[in-house]
Amino acid sequence: MKQLIDPFGRPIEYVRLSVTDRCDLRCNYCIPKGFRDFEEPEDWLTFAEIERVIGAFGRLGVTRIRLTGGEPLVRKDLPGLAARLAALPGIDDLSLSTNATHLDKHAVALRASGVSRINASLDSLRTDRFKDITQGKLDKVLAGLMAAKAAGFSPVKINMVVMAGVNDDEVEDMVDFCIEHDFTLRFIETMPMGTTGLSASEHYVSLQLVRKRLEKRFDLIPGVMPGGGPARYVRVAGTELRIGFITPISQHFCETCNRVRLSVDGTIYLCLGQDDKLELRPLLRAGATDQDIEQAILTAIARKPERHEFGDKPEQIVRFMSMTGG
Ligand code: 5AD
Ligand code: SF4
Repeated sequence: MKQLIDPFGRPIEYVRLSVTDRCDLRCNYCIPKGFRDFEEPEDWLTFAEIERVIGAFGRLGVTRIRLTGGEPLVRKDLPGLAARLAALPGIDDLSLSTNATHLDKHAVALRASGVSRINASLDSLRTDRFKDITQGKLDKVLAGLMAAKAAGFSPVKINMVVMAGVNDDEVEDMVDFCIEHDFTLRFIETMPMGTTGLSASEHYVSLQLVRKRLEKRFDLIPGVMPGGGPARYVRVAGTELRIGFITPISQHFCETCNRVRLSVDGTIYLCLGQDDKLELRPLLRAGATDQDIEQAILTAIARKPERHEFGDKPEQIVRFMSMTGG
């Protein structure tokens, strides 16, 4: 089997594909208030172009694709794109990250199109607070989560960005909620992703502390569920609940990085925290052959940096999260 290996010996088998940089929410850690500098539709890769690029990744050894945004479900006919990608040779895992606001309408079609797993953002279970953080409606999101479960997605994973003084008092509630609904829960440390409405350093909480706090109430059994990603999982004794801790700041996991990102305008980004990139769209629109695209991907992978530098240079702001996908 073909493998795509970066300069640090890491096999790259996972592409996070942003299908739009737009979003119907405005999470304070993600998009600056009043932000308007979105990509123009003529610069979005078409479904046919995306299919070509992902096809090339698949031939080179990538096996897993995650659809992200912005909010991927604001792109028209996402299930149609998902079906085309799921059918590509080599691609054997197709997943979706969503804010779940439109998931109630699309869950069944997504499942039928070959999406096998869903991660959804949920930072608060309190209507007012949810609105403060995201500008959106909590009940729409909850309806979306229930629809995903009903459509047969299992597990549905809930991502909570833990922010000091914002929602860190809700970690226990979130555990109870996920036990009740049979969701998997992941806590995420805030990363400094640009001057959004929230200062990441001011609201940063180390998940080591969150874990200690949870251990007062729950018996956490370590070492379950090695995933293809950076979360370290524990199980809550006496329940089926798995909790993952994603700690880009307190314990970065760059040594095992297995991914690259493709943005909606056709740029390959090699690291969430660095500017290294390669623009594929000009090639695609200048009549590149499949071989040219594969060669460009290899050139991009050769530029993959060793690690992010959020900790050493928190002032170095690369891109807003909404531009490359969470
Ligand atoms: N820090 C950490 N996670 C973030 N996300 C977005 N912005 C940030 C940030 N600054 C992640 C969250 C969110 C998903 C869309 O991306 O998990 O749920
Ligand atoms: Fe939208 Fe996700 Fe960013 Fe929130 S975190 S604004 S849901 S892209």
